[in-house]
Amino acid sequence: MDRSHPALTGTHVLPSVMSSDMLRLGEQIDALAAAGARALHVDVMDNHFVPNLTVGPDFTAAVARAARPHGMLVDVHVMVERPGNLIPLFAPHADAISVHVEADPHPHRLLGAIRDAGLMAGIAINPGTPVEALSALVPMIDYVNCMSVNPGFAGQSFVPQTPAKVRLLRDVVGDGVVIEVDGGVGPSTIDGVRDAGAQWLVSASAIFGSDDPIAAYGDLARGARGE
Ligand code: DX5
Ligand code: ZN
Repeated sequence: MDRSHPALTGTHVLPSVMSSDMLRLGEQIDALAAAGARALHVDVMDNHFVPNLTVGPDFTAAVARAARPHGMLVDVHVMVERPGNLIPLFAPHADAISVHVEADPHPHRLLGAIRDAGLMAGIAINPGTPVEALSALVPMIDYVNCMSVNPGFAGQSFVPQTPAKVRLLRDVVGDGVVIEVDGGVGPSTIDGVRDAGAQWLVSASAIFGSDDPIAAYGDLARGARGE
């Protein structure tokens, strides 16, 4: 992972392709890149850790083929129980992988495997899990995916305690770790998470549920920058 990647400076909106028009995803990625998107978010769900089923490594490979010519970072959010076997399958098509602290008794080992594959290692944390669950993992963490909905579906309501949790997380992980917020991020919630210090703001329905996803991305990206 290139530590000088533009997504690692400032605050960014990461379109979550879960809600995209998947048969037109290549065109949508080209248009998002032209509109300034520097990173994409891909949601992997297993119908065990979360009550929904989405995509696997063949899909992330296709996303990477479309995203890499634009230099976009590919962030894969793995909502899977015991995800260890999947890390080597996703690694060639990802720049960053997050796994859930609740999904495996050995998150320290998983984060090490992600780093050993040359990627940013992320730990995702559900709304009901206290920030202290991450304290022993800090040396292994490059980013935290702070869930602002209970994972499983796009289009859910933002958990209002999230900005306060982001501030608590910053105290736990320090300044060198990227904080991502995922779920329910849209025009009415983006200011709170930006002001709390989150740097990667994931959004699916506020972008792809709009009549004009590229314009919606642009509006959110300006919000992320505080414009
Ligand atoms: C939810 C996923 C999110 C989802 C966000 O479980 O992790 O990334 O795509 O969707 P919205 O922005 O619609 O809440
Ligand atoms: Zn996600």
